[in-house]
Amino acid sequence: MAIELVPVAFPPSVDALKLANFVREVRGVDPASIASSPELFTEIEEALYTHSALLFRNAKLTPAQQYALTKAFDPQSENYGHGNNKTGETKKSILHPDLKTIPSVPQVQLIGNGTVYDHEGLAEAMLKHPSHTTFHKTRVTPEDEAKGVTRFYRWHIDAALYDLNPPRMTTLYGITVPQGQKQVCRYDDGTGDELEVPLGTTAFVSGKIMFDILPAELKSLAVRSKVKYAPHPYVWMAPSHALPTGLGIETEGLELPLEELPPWEEAKLKTLPIVWKNTITGDLHFQVHPCGAKEVIVEPLPQGVAREGALYPEGGHITDLKEVRGLLYKMQRPAIAPSLVYPHDWNENDLVLFHNRGVLHTVVGAFKPDQVRAFHQCNLAASDEPAGPTAEDVKKYA
Ligand SMILES: [Fe+2]
Repeated sequence: MAIELVPVAFPPSVDALKLANFVREVRGVDPASIASSPELFTEIEEALYTHSALLFRNAKLTPAQQYALTKAFDPQSENYGHGNNKTGETKKSILHPDLKTIPSVPQVQLIGNGTVYDHEGLAEAMLKHPSHTTFHKTRVTPEDEAKGVTRFYRWHIDAALYDLNPPRMTTLYGITVPQGQKQVCRYDDGTGDELEVPLGTTAFVSGKIMFDILPAELKSLAVRSKVKYAPHPYVWMAPSHALPTGLGIETEGLELPLEELPPWEEAKLKTLPIVWKNTITGDLHFQVHPCGAKEVIVEPLPQGVAREGALYPEGGHITDLKEVRGLLYKMQRPAIAPSLVYPHDWNENDLVLFHNRGVLHTVVGAFKPDQVRAFHQCNLAASDEPAGPTAEDVKKYA
């Protein structure tokens, strides 16, 4: 079966040349049929790993079908990407208010805004679109907000980053999608950067581009480095505040002390390569969740590689949070430039599949309480850890 892949319409802000390979609309395929057709699945899987995100319009998908579709990408996986989010100890997590589990299919989460009634076995669900005003250190003034100025909420990979492996992909299905005025997403980091966005957009950037546009010395550092994430990162970071770009945390010493976290074990901490190798294309994607990062571990340059201008030529272990965050920000900020962001303009019954090991994404914007939005989201803690660069990759870029 030949599937039809069509480039999506980019807004004028996008550098269409740089993002030429990013995101495709899939036509002529019923997404509910993919999981049960191995041939079709193979085509969709290849398209997803090649283009990082796939859009299906007018999709009709039950929670059980969405779970089956998501599971097809990792048949061994079973649990929601953040595990059981109902446990008492995750109540303190900053993710807790954002997710409601669908009772009959607990791997699928209901997210959105406003009050939803009689929804897939949930009599009443009060949803709140995450807002930068409760997470960033500074906020857009209420006057500017009233004019439609907003911010990226939090750039991230969908991942627990503790005990569980980052999901390979996420399915996001827009069921009730309020329409409204476009908003202006301001970076507020001194650059003057801003981006016009549809109301309630999900913004995506490519981890491949994030790596590709780095100067040589930072590519060398990226392929030699791993990030060690904090124990229970979303509980750890809960008291802290994010940067105005949503790309990491201000270093103010507000993270929850390790001894005040829910019980944790060293063996369950996640130390993951900065660069993840795409299992289908072989491309390298810069995949770091900057908010949860606690340490950076750098391998020395391989034997025989010129040391001139190299950063950490003998390797290193960076444990100072400000330094860790500064280094990651320097490497990640170029890739969230307005021209490299794809802000998806949601329509009802849009289904987006994204390669969670190949992109970063964020919630954007602010809804009023009466703007009801309901989405189903599913991702599964993966059966494997993401693979880092090969020895050959390291040699090439080190
Ligand atoms: Fe997400």
